[in-house]
Amino acid sequence: MTRRVLTGITTTGTPHLGNYVGAIKPAIAASHDEGVASFYFLADYHALVKNRDPERLRRSTLEIAATWLALGLDTDKAVFYRQSDIREIPELTWILTCFTAKGLMNRAHAYKAAVQENVDAGEDPDYAINMGLFCYPVLMSADILMFNANDVPVGKDQIQHLEMARDIAQRFNHHFGEIFALPEAVVDDNVAVLPGQDGRKMSKSYDNTIPLWLPEKKLRKAIMKIVTNSLEPGEPKDPNDSALFSIYSAFATPEQRSAMKQAYADGIAWGEAKQQTFELINGELAEARERYEALMADPARIEAVLLAGAERARAEATPFLGRIRQAIGIQALG
Ligand code: TRP
Repeated sequence: MTRRVLTGITTTGTPHLGNYVGAIKPAIAASHDEGVASFYFLADYHALVKNRDPERLRRSTLEIAATWLALGLDTDKAVFYRQSDIREIPELTWILTCFTAKGLMNRAHAYKAAVQENVDAGEDPDYAINMGLFCYPVLMSADILMFNANDVPVGKDQIQHLEMARDIAQRFNHHFGEIFALPEAVVDDNVAVLPGQDGRKMSKSYDNTIPLWLPEKKLRKAIMKIVTNSLEPGEPKDPNDSALFSIYSAFATPEQRSAMKQAYADGIAWGEAKQQTFELINGELAEARERYEALMADPARIEAVLLAGAERARAEATPFLGRIRQAIGIQALG
């Protein structure tokens, strides 16, 4: 049986090297697997929970779509779509909302963290918390259950959301029979968590990211800014204690990695190690960068790809939602 793999990418911000190494590259590789049907989508309704700037939302959606296409996602094979084009998803969200215990949502980490932040700041606990944030896991469950996904590749921070999706599906199935497949989170420990310029996890919230599509000169500059220590050329350096080495490794073949390890032991100068890191990363991205720029200059082409993907997705979602409506008693009377 083909496994169904599904994952969503929230359309906030500009893709960075951490997104590429940790999510996009492995997902595109997995989509080439025979025996796998992949569903990848732009979670723009999820982005709306935090975004109040329409131009930013539009721009991010465009950039992220262009990124996946430039990096070689085969959209004849993978179903690639924009969440908001699938009208069935918000409809299913409401249905699932009615089968979701409020107490379950009260326990969501992201919601609890927002409340805690308010409490710590001496604000009202609900300050600036919208229902979108509170119901975020239900929308995510609808994304997943709509396509009967088996495997959902996510970061560790999303595991709880997958547990909630299973919970919601089970509750629904208990009432109405076996409608939904139970999804599983797939957290790949072999996928690198890329450090940022300051050595902490590369993340927009730490302001330490290196954008994926920087032009060559700026990419070089950004890599030169990765924090190292004050060891001089000729002094041996410890690769296990070096963000630069981790970043190099994420792009290197095993042979390149061991050669670089040796170079550290032999006291390579930081400037030289950075130059080699730049060349490696730039070499991997240069061709795709040209495709990315061409795609960004032609948004209509991206739009057409997304609409074609939505059509394929809806070819499943429409009849499946029909079945769900039937099951709950929302159906034609005649
Ligand atoms: N919440 C996910 C994140 O921030 C994005 C997402 C939305 C998602 N819907 C999804 C991931 C469904 C997997 C499946 O990373």
